[in-house]
Amino acid sequence: MLQGKITQYSEEINAFFTTNANELEQFRIRFLGAKGIIKDIFEEFKSVSPEAKRVLGKVLNQFKQLAEDKYQELKDQSAVIEVAKDNGMDLTLSGEGFEIGSRHPLALVRREIIEIFNKLGFVVEEGPEIEDDWHNFSALNFPEEHPARDMQDTFFIKKGGENGDIALRTHTSSVQVRMMESGKPPFRAIMPGRVYRNEAISARAHCFFHQVEGLYVDENVSFADLKQTLFYFVQELYGEGTKVRFRPSYFPFTEPSAEMDISCTICKGAGCQMCKYSGYVEILGCGMVDPNVLENCGIDSKKYSGFAFGMGIERIANLKFEIKDLRLFSENDTRFLKQYKSALF
Ligand code: DAH
Repeated sequence: MLQGKITQYSEEINAFFTTNANELEQFRIRFLGAKGIIKDIFEEFKSVSPEAKRVLGKVLNQFKQLAEDKYQELKDQSAVIEVAKDNGMDLTLSGEGFEIGSRHPLALVRREIIEIFNKLGFVVEEGPEIEDDWHNFSALNFPEEHPARDMQDTFFIKKGGENGDIALRTHTSSVQVRMMESGKPPFRAIMPGRVYRNEAISARAHCFFHQVEGLYVDENVSFADLKQTLFYFVQELYGEGTKVRFRPSYFPFTEPSAEMDISCTICKGAGCQMCKYSGYVEILGCGMVDPNVLENCGIDSKKYSGFAFGMGIERIANLKFEIKDLRLFSENDTRFLKQYKSALF
């Protein structure tokens, strides 16, 4: 009985808060006054059995302490409020709401991509955004003065140099080269990062964006491994039943090369604006690493083979969140960013 009362009153005391002197005085009278609750409970305590007394004695003292502490705390606080008031400040006004930020949608998508490939044993590698010609082009089998280099409008920083012109990397494929040059097969890595291209900014193009590169080099790696890996990736990312299709393509650093389409994530293949009524959307480029690239990086192309792929994170995010204007990703408009709050952790 007594124990129940104490629990109930303790809850009330814990929840109590006031900045008003009158209310605080009411609290004192109710709990700590000469005819207050604590007095009553101590009265009641006198008539409980000696065994119960042993247990309840301590509880009762704690309860009394709780009420006294609360009273003292609020009294001290009132004193501070009074002093502030004398100095023209009102501490009882509610403060401005504190809003915590949220993760950027591109960060969310990048993390999801990394998590999926982690499950397949891919590690994360990174490389520099300021790159030389060798790592961005030559080692990747882009011939000197070949129009293939025009595929990617490059921001050049400096002419000449030991490894050729210095530029902002146009793709994350450069990290493949750095990785292969500095290690020994097998390689199994994904390489996320920012890339730059000299393009006019519009809803559909930007002068910087983000890619994730993938590389798998070992003995006996085949195109079937490439297909299976990317198929698994797509099922994990966009849900089971997402269809994939490979179209022959050309990249200097892969042979054979392909582009991979998936059934449109928006209309599920029925046809919509996103897929231009084809039912499919392209999400990445891929292929078997060209033996020249392996050799350029000091890897025996007779013994080793591999596959590589590269995708734009913005594109993957567009298909997930239906973001139609690329500029939104870099404008830092909180009305846009806030919408991804629910996906915070
Ligand atoms: N680097 C290419 C680009 O920026 C993407 C790419 C295509 C990467 C095929 C690859 C690949 O690794 O095999 O458009």
